[in-house]
Amino acid sequence: MAKMMRAARYFQHGGPEVISVDHVPVPEPDKGQVLVEIAAAGVAPLDWKMRAGLLQQYFSLHFPKIPGRDGAGRVVACGPGISRLAPGDRVAVMAPPAGQAGTHAEYIVADADLVVPLPDNLGDDAAAALINAGLSAWIAVMRTAQVQRGQRVLVQSGAGAVGGLMVQLCAHLGAEVTATCRAANADYVRGLGASRVIAYDGPAVTDLPPQDVVFDLMGGAVHDACYPMLAPGGHLVWLAAAPITDRGAEFGVRVTRAMITDDAGVVAEVMKLAAQGVLKPQIAGVMPLDQAAEAQRKLAAGEITRGRLILRP
Ligand SMILES: NC(=O)c1ccc[n+]([C@@H]2O[C@H](COP(=O)([O-])OP(=O)(O)OC[C@H]3O[C@@H](n4cnc5c(N)ncnc54)[C@H](OP(=O)(O)O)[C@@H]3O)[C@@H](O)[C@H]2O)c1
Repeated sequence: MAKMMRAARYFQHGGPEVISVDHVPVPEPDKGQVLVEIAAAGVAPLDWKMRAGLLQQYFSLHFPKIPGRDGAGRVVACGPGISRLAPGDRVAVMAPPAGQAGTHAEYIVADADLVVPLPDNLGDDAAAALINAGLSAWIAVMRTAQVQRGQRVLVQSGAGAVGGLMVQLCAHLGAEVTATCRAANADYVRGLGASRVIAYDGPAVTDLPPQDVVFDLMGGAVHDACYPMLAPGGHLVWLAAAPITDRGAEFGVRVTRAMITDDAGVVAEVMKLAAQGVLKPQIAGVMPLDQAAEAQRKLAAGEITRGRLILRP
């Protein structure tokens, strides 16, 4: 009889109530794949947005869908043709967004090229908080914006999972970092490396010097507010969130979307920076897999702050 596992699943778009935690067969790795036992998985905005059906123009899902973009755990079996990994290896795993298999389950089969060995000094929750969030922050900061020492950089949403890592990375690079967050998170965001904090629920700030780079992780009205903050010729880098209107020509600034694609080399670089203590993983909370629906509800309701919410199967 097939070995069984618990997995969060949904069979249609809808509210968090469409998620159930079911017993399903443990998948078997094929050629070039490994079976990973998940110890900790991140819950990302994409998980609830995809479930709610907000991203159907980008991804068409095949149901049932197991949510979860990333996870940390241990290789338990390897398919044919795998020499780089072996059972027992601690790894980070990425699950393609539109695939049926996600990390909110006890096991996942993943392509070996989306699996990255973990440093010994990084725990499972910490690693899970860094995989997709670190990938997104690293690509936006290093590849898209190419932030340089001495630049003035503004991160819109410095207390979030991705924004918090951007603040840390930009400060490490020697940029002068400003970040936005709710007033209650000001000291937390300063602790990540921001030299100036703007509370989005506080008084308007009028003395911000012109910024060389602004990262917009929110879209919509937050995106609009970025333009006057940029120096002439500055760079507005945005990640997919609420829809945006590109007003770069009007303000004389460059506007670029950071294209976030799964990349094992980038995740390996993020894990190396974490092992060296340059990036400090930010864990907003830990919940059991049985509460997968409640975890997505909390994230969508804005109840999660200061890093990534982790599910432990
Ligand atoms: N492929 C891609 O393009 C890609 C990849 C990764 C992420 N993203 C997007 O990037 C965004 C952030 O992701 P995440 O994982 O970091 O989410 P997250 O951990 O849920 O963080 C969201 C943060 O937004 C902050 N926030 C809310 N309203 C704000 C406002 N008006 N001004 C400034 N900050 C505000 C909150 O700050 P407080 O806690 O201080 O209230 C919260 O911490 C999401 O929209 C996500 O969809 C896109």
